[in-house]
Amino acid sequence: MKTFEMKTVIHFGENALDRLRTIPYKRALVITDPIVVQSGMIELITAPLDKAGITYDIFQDVVPDAPVGKIAEGVKKFLEFQPEVVVAVGGGSAIDSSKAIREFALKINDYGKVGLIAVPTTSGTGSEVTSFAVVNDTHAKVKYPLVSDSLTADEAILDAELVRSVPPAVTADTGMDVFTHALESYVSTEHNEFSSALAEKSIEICGVFLLRAYLDGNDMHARQKMHVASCLAGLSFNTAGLGITHSMAHQLGAMFHIPHGRANAMLLPHIVEFNANINKHSRSQKEYLPAVKRYANIAHILGLSNYNKVMTVRSLVNWIQFMQKEMNIPLTIQELGTIPPDAYFGALDKMADAALADTCTANNPRVPTKEDIIKIYTKLWAF
Ligand SMILES: NC(=O)c1ccc[n+]([C@@H]2O[C@H](COP(=O)([O-])OP(=O)(O)OC[C@H]3O[C@@H](n4cnc5c(N)ncnc54)[C@H](O)[C@@H]3O)[C@@H](O)[C@H]2O)c1
Ligand SMILES: [Fe+2]
Repeated sequence: MKTFEMKTVIHFGENALDRLRTIPYKRALVITDPIVVQSGMIELITAPLDKAGITYDIFQDVVPDAPVGKIAEGVKKFLEFQPEVVVAVGGGSAIDSSKAIREFALKINDYGKVGLIAVPTTSGTGSEVTSFAVVNDTHAKVKYPLVSDSLTADEAILDAELVRSVPPAVTADTGMDVFTHALESYVSTEHNEFSSALAEKSIEICGVFLLRAYLDGNDMHARQKMHVASCLAGLSFNTAGLGITHSMAHQLGAMFHIPHGRANAMLLPHIVEFNANINKHSRSQKEYLPAVKRYANIAHILGLSNYNKVMTVRSLVNWIQFMQKEMNIPLTIQELGTIPPDAYFGALDKMADAALADTCTANNPRVPTKEDIIKIYTKLWAF
C-alpha cells in the first residue's frame, strides 16, 4: 500500500501574507534569518501580526545550513517564550532550524500543541511542505536530514514578494535545488503517479522560468512561478524521496560549505549519467536501466529533441550543464577555487561513507557502491 498525504495548507499568490492576520493563535515566535530583519522585510510579517493583535518575539540568529549549536540556542528561546505557534521566515536554513527547534523544545517540555507556519524567502528547498529538516553536525562535519511527520508545517505561505531581493547567485543555486528535487523524486524507487505529476509540473516551470528569474529578479511573474515550482517539487519528494545527488551534496555542504543548491547542480549531471549508466562514450544498447525512460520523459518536457536513448540522456545532461554555465555555477570543484586539492581528496573516504549512510540514498534508482561514490566525487574535481 502507498499513501499520499498533503498535511500542509498552502496559501499562495498575491497578498498571501494576509493570512497572518487571521491565524488562530495569540502568541507567536518568529524564527528567521538576520537578512530578513536587517533588510526590513520582517515588517511584511510583523505588520499583519500587529494588526491581528498577536504577541510575538523574534529569534533572528539563524545561520545557513542549520548547525546544531544554533538550534540549541533557539530551543532555549522557545522554552522561555512558550509560543502557541512558530512562524518560520527565511530560506531552507531558517525553516529547517524552526522545525528542529520546535521538535526538540517540545521533547524537553511538551506543554501542548504548537503550530508551525512556514514562510519561505527563497524558491528552493520546498521545506515549507516537507517532513525533512536538514541539520548540520558541525563537530562531526556531517549534514543529515531528520525525517518525521511531526516536523511538517501546518501552513505554508508562498508570497513571491519575499523572494524579490534574492541575489542572482542564490536564485541560481536554489532554482537548481528545485530542479534536482523534481528530477530525483521523478526517478526515485518510490515514485508514484502523484509524485510524478507534481515533479513534471515543477520541471516544466523550471524549464521556462528559472533563467528568467535569474536574469531579472524583479520579474515577479517568473518569481511567483518558481516559488510555486519549489513547493510542487517539495510535495513530490516528500512522498517519493530523493537520491544520491542529495546524499553527496549534504557532505559537500558539511565539509566545504558549498551552498546546498550549488552542490546539487554540480553533482546532478554526473548522477544522471550514473543512474542511466550512459555517458558521453556510450553507444546504443539493447537494454537500458529503468531510469533512462524516466529521464527521457523529462527531456521531452524540457523540449529537448530525442533521437535515441543515448542522445536523450546526453541532451538532459547537456541541458543541466547549459543552465550551470548560463547562471555562473561552476562545473567542477577545482573551478570553485576555494578548496585545496589535498583537503578535497583527503575527505573523500569520509564523505563517501556519510553519503552512503544518508537516508536519501535508499531511494536512488541505481544502488551505488562506495567506489561509485568516490568515483563521482573524483570526477567532480575536474572532468
Ligand atoms: N527540509 C527540506 O526539505 C530541505 C530540502 C532541501 C534542502 N534543505 C536544506 O535547506 C538549506 C538551504 O536552504 P536555502 O537554499 O533556501 O538557503 P539558505 O536558507 O541557507 O539561504 C541562502 C542565503 O540566502 C539568503 N537569503 C534568504 N532569503 C533571502 C532573501 N529573500 N533576500 C536576500 N537573501 C536571502 C540567506 O541569508 C543565505 O545567506 C540547506 O541546509 C539544505 O540542506 C532542506
Ligand atoms: Fe535540496
